[in-house]
Amino acid sequence: MNTILVTGGCGYIGSHTIVDLLEHGFNVISIDDNSRSTAMAITGIEKITGKKIKNYTVDLKDYNDTRAVFQENEHITGIIHFAAYKAVGESVEQPLSYYENNMFGLINLLKCVDEFKVPHFVFSSSCTVYGNPDKIPVTENSPIKEAESPYGATKQMGERMIKDFSHVVANTACILLRYFNPVGAHPSSFIGELPIGKPMNLVPAITQTAIGKLPKMFVHGNDYDTRDGSCVRDYIHVCDIAHAHTLGLQYLMQEKNTTRCDVFNLGTGNGVTVLEAIKTFEKVSGVKLNYEIGNRRAGDVVAIYANNELAVKKLGWTIKYDVDAMMKTAWDWELKLKEEEDLLKQQSLLN
Ligand code: WQD
Repeated sequence: MNTILVTGGCGYIGSHTIVDLLEHGFNVISIDDNSRSTAMAITGIEKITGKKIKNYTVDLKDYNDTRAVFQENEHITGIIHFAAYKAVGESVEQPLSYYENNMFGLINLLKCVDEFKVPHFVFSSSCTVYGNPDKIPVTENSPIKEAESPYGATKQMGERMIKDFSHVVANTACILLRYFNPVGAHPSSFIGELPIGKPMNLVPAITQTAIGKLPKMFVHGNDYDTRDGSCVRDYIHVCDIAHAHTLGLQYLMQEKNTTRCDVFNLGTGNGVTVLEAIKTFEKVSGVKLNYEIGNRRAGDVVAIYANNELAVKKLGWTIKYDVDAMMKTAWDWELKLKEEEDLLKQQSLLN
């Protein structure tokens, strides 16, 4: 049976994409070493879809283990590659681990794509490839400037590697999907973002502060040249991002010319500041957030949001969730996590 391999399938965007693929009739397997995720996501996927998913706990940096998955599954017709480290701030502090993990994993995967002639490859890229753009919104043809972080540099290098690879490997068509800021959770609250340790991204920092896991959160600077001084981002619901991957695979499967490597921006086209995101969260949750204005964060881009017309037109993509829904689903997920933690505490007290 034709199978789609999702790397990082236990992760935030990977798990939401598997749900969307299953709901659109694809057969899916996952590779995830669970170094930054848990198998809890697989349980959530099964609760939502009623379908069982096999996850291979393989580190893509191990070529032999990675190749063994392809040997065991000879009908892999498409790959969606999510597995990578993705925290901008952390990458500034630990550049080598980002280059090692994100680049070696991709190289091993592409070697298998070549050997096993996998016809379709979707790469999880990022708006961080644009660096600090001179002009916003950015289109897919906006200049690729100096990356502001090692994370962004790994995405720039990854795109270049895949473009060069797609021009010499005749049987593989690729697309690069540049996400802006994925946030929120599946409406069922069975899957969502599960940061390991202290959250580095904005929305989990908001929800963990609101629920009391964190005493307070800091806005990383309000002295930028923006409408309220805080950074501007294009927040996009993770379910909208997930469905764009299904559409991307379908686009590749209809594509005749396999030497092309198309690029698509996945953003809403709207810029939202950090302070506006916090205000929206307070509105939809009814919780007053305990935050302070702190220092700027190294690696931060001042302002970026997408021109998403190409994805809308060529992939037939439509955005279903607004910022209110992004914050509401993120909050519902955090409440669900707390409910489950409290239940576990009660059970351990009873045992
Ligand atoms: C957003 C804004 C922070 C935490 C993300 C992903 C990256 C890529 C691009 C997909 C910034 C501010 C944050 C906090 C804050 N996406 N912030 N207080 O850096 O834009 O990168 O999107 O590939 O993978 O990480 O997202 O959520 O970390 O920050 O003020 O406690 O929120 O300074 O201005 P970022 P982020």
